[in-house]
Amino acid sequence: MEINLKVGVLTSGGDAPGMNAAIRAVVRAATHRNIEVIGIRRGYQGMIEGDFIKMDSACVSGIIQRGGTILQTARCMEFMAPEGRKKAYDQLNSFSINAVIVIGGDGSFTGASIMSREYDIPFIGIPGTIDNDLYGTDYTIGFDTALNTVVNAVDKIRDTASSHGRIFFVEVMGKEAGFIALQSGIACGAEGILIPEEKGQIEKLRKFLDERAKLKKSSIILVAEGEEEGGAIPIANKMKEEYPEFDIRTTILGHIQRGGTPSAVDRINASRMGVAAIEALIDDQKSIMIGIVNNEIVHVPLNKTVKLCKDVSRDMLAITDLLV
Ligand code: F6P
Repeated sequence: MEINLKVGVLTSGGDAPGMNAAIRAVVRAATHRNIEVIGIRRGYQGMIEGDFIKMDSACVSGIIQRGGTILQTARCMEFMAPEGRKKAYDQLNSFSINAVIVIGGDGSFTGASIMSREYDIPFIGIPGTIDNDLYGTDYTIGFDTALNTVVNAVDKIRDTASSHGRIFFVEVMGKEAGFIALQSGIACGAEGILIPEEKGQIEKLRKFLDERAKLKKSSIILVAEGEEEGGAIPIANKMKEEYPEFDIRTTILGHIQRGGTPSAVDRINASRMGVAAIEALIDDQKSIMIGIVNNEIVHVPLNKTVKLCKDVSRDMLAITDLLV
């Protein structure tokens, strides 16, 4: 069967460890089926500007273990407007690219979903964000590595916290989602976890400081950056005022969470999803995200994944109270 595909691949939005493994899988799986792959640099910005590069099996050698993305990435406002997408379409056309694989998060998939409808080009999404906040998949590329980075860092903070008998407020990424905070909090034995999905958590924190904190050598409160009080600094400041008897410190882990060598889990899942994206295109799929649910590859309509929200695991949330 002759396959009439020329596939563009790009990474978009915040980078995530394992994106390179996904690029590699896309290129290698396509090459095995004699499908040409064009790398689009700097996400949608590069699509608009025609920043394209021909890719082959050799050019993705030695990248599976590297963090970041060899194609680079961007957050592109111009692509949000119809004029931007028209420019992007013209560039794709002039290079005869007739399908696109987007590795990114919900912002990237929103653009993909709109352009796919406007220009009848198949867009396949591969979930790549450390936030793990995409509906329709248990897992996004980069989450596992980020989680391990946080756990490593917080274990170190715990050493100094317990030596000094201090309370640390540690802020992790997650502007709109608490997946990193919740799961790293469980893994680190945090005494408190504050996430955007839950309201009124400050009362629970006060209760802990009133009743339990004095009995502990140290305490770690994991704070997602998007939680309702505005992150670790405002909460820590408020608590310093209310509880002058405690020695309180704050650490913001920041972009360290986005870098580093991808974990084995991220490499394996990225490889599976990259291959699945090429297979989906061969099967004539349009406008879907590749996901992993119960460790199986699934296809989720792109418009569904951008419209619906994924909630944190309520089971995990429930056990946190029992673990302190
Ligand atoms: O990658 C997702 C994310 O890490 C969010 O949790 C965070 O708020 C945001 O990206 C930061 O992005 P930027 O690097 O553009 O500031």
